[in-house]
Amino acid sequence: MSKNKYYNIITYGCQMNEHDSERLAGMLEEMGYQHTEEYKNADIILLNTCIIRENAELKVYGKLGELKRYKRENPDLIIGIGGCMMQQDAPVDEVYKKYRHVDLIFGTHNIHHLPDLIRKIEETRDRVVEVWDEEEGLIPDLPSQRESEYSAWISIIQGCDNFCTYCIVPYVRGRERSRPIASIVNEAERLAEDGVKEITLLGQNVNSFGNDLDKDITFPKLLEELNKVEKLKRIRFMTSHPRDFSDALLDKIKNLNKVANHIHLPVQSGSNKVLKEMNRGYTREYYIERVKNIQEEIPGASVSTDFIVGFPGESEEDFQKTIDLVKELKFDMAYTFIYSPRSGTPAARRDDQIDDDVKKERLNRLMELQNKISYDKNQKLIGTTQEILVTGPSNNDPEVYEGRTSTNKICFIDMREDLVGEIVKIKVESAKSWTLEGKIIEE
Ligand code: SAH
Ligand code: SF4
Ligand code: F3S
Repeated sequence: MSKNKYYNIITYGCQMNEHDSERLAGMLEEMGYQHTEEYKNADIILLNTCIIRENAELKVYGKLGELKRYKRENPDLIIGIGGCMMQQDAPVDEVYKKYRHVDLIFGTHNIHHLPDLIRKIEETRDRVVEVWDEEEGLIPDLPSQRESEYSAWISIIQGCDNFCTYCIVPYVRGRERSRPIASIVNEAERLAEDGVKEITLLGQNVNSFGNDLDKDITFPKLLEELNKVEKLKRIRFMTSHPRDFSDALLDKIKNLNKVANHIHLPVQSGSNKVLKEMNRGYTREYYIERVKNIQEEIPGASVSTDFIVGFPGESEEDFQKTIDLVKELKFDMAYTFIYSPRSGTPAARRDDQIDDDVKKERLNRLMELQNKISYDKNQKLIGTTQEILVTGPSNNDPEVYEGRTSTNKICFIDMREDLVGEIVKIKVESAKSWTLEGKIIEE
């Protein structure tokens, strides 16, 4: 019998990358590899990279340095690097020239070639570089080694056509391509049969789904179809672009029983001048009206958002507009980022970049305000009844179990192995900024 072979995948970046890694893992498992946590036991280690901000890149170089010694100890080890960073020439050159222990470089458009690329290395022991500028059609449906038994990601649209002036994603993920609706529904049905209770539909702008398909195929229509999948309990999706968030979509979130009451709607800035320069395609007033509309139509729905602070030319006055917007809309949660110039994007070429200290100071002010708002909002939930999907032990304490509300808040409960994968009612007993604690009231 041949010796068992092991793999490890290190993933950076967003849910798209997490999901791609599940598919990379699926292909490796089909090739006979098994997962290992230990680098020293691995026969193949893959890095799935992100290039959204500079610190994402720095982490990857740090990890490549760390992996060198495993290659020295085991020269047969295959080290591969793929993902968004490898869709840019400069990082590919850097990795190829300076990290000689890397055997394989691949991109986001050819992940389905992984088995061929690995076989090529195994046969020749040559270094292999294969990065495509774009896909030949869609990436085919691939086996997926899922992280969770009860929740699964489903990719519905790849790429992005928005070209926000700060963002690298359209350059590394290509143009928008929707997946055929039948193949999405099929996947959801298969997953549900397999015991999955909750799916999260993924796309950089899910509202664009269907723009490149038949006229009557839209994102709200897709939600309607998925809501019919019998054994599914919950449908989540991200990300929604505010410009394309339609009344039809709001109607589906409100009326389809499985669609979760959580909307992630990145605003980026509260200043009209900055929004225009970011090429976001909406104004502060439009955004405020949209969110108020959601909050009125679906009482109890949660809205989360993303902010970038320190975009080139952002004045203190512009930043105050962001602060005022946060005070007015009271988001449940916000991800806050310091603007990071990305080579090749229009905003990176501007000569009015903001000083690092100013950026950091603004970030701190924004985070402090948002933490307080999140805390206050969660305090108001104490005493209410919520439904959570129990996912298993929490990271920090195996005796505490956790689940998520429909509004996407993490909730801790007492250990109950029999309830994992079930949706249960709980009463919220205490709350912090990012988590709730509850007691089960009905099974
Ligand atoms: N498609 C999604 C988000 C993709 S990237 C959308 O349009 O909303 C996730 C978040 O990273 C963005 O919402 C933005 O807040 C942040 N981001 C993107 N590029 C950035 C950059 N150059 N510097 C800092 N943050 C950035
Ligand atoms: Fe980037 Fe804008 Fe596309 Fe989001 S919508 S991925 S921020 S270009
Ligand atoms: Fe990063 Fe690529 Fe996602 S750049 S944020 S991993 S699409």
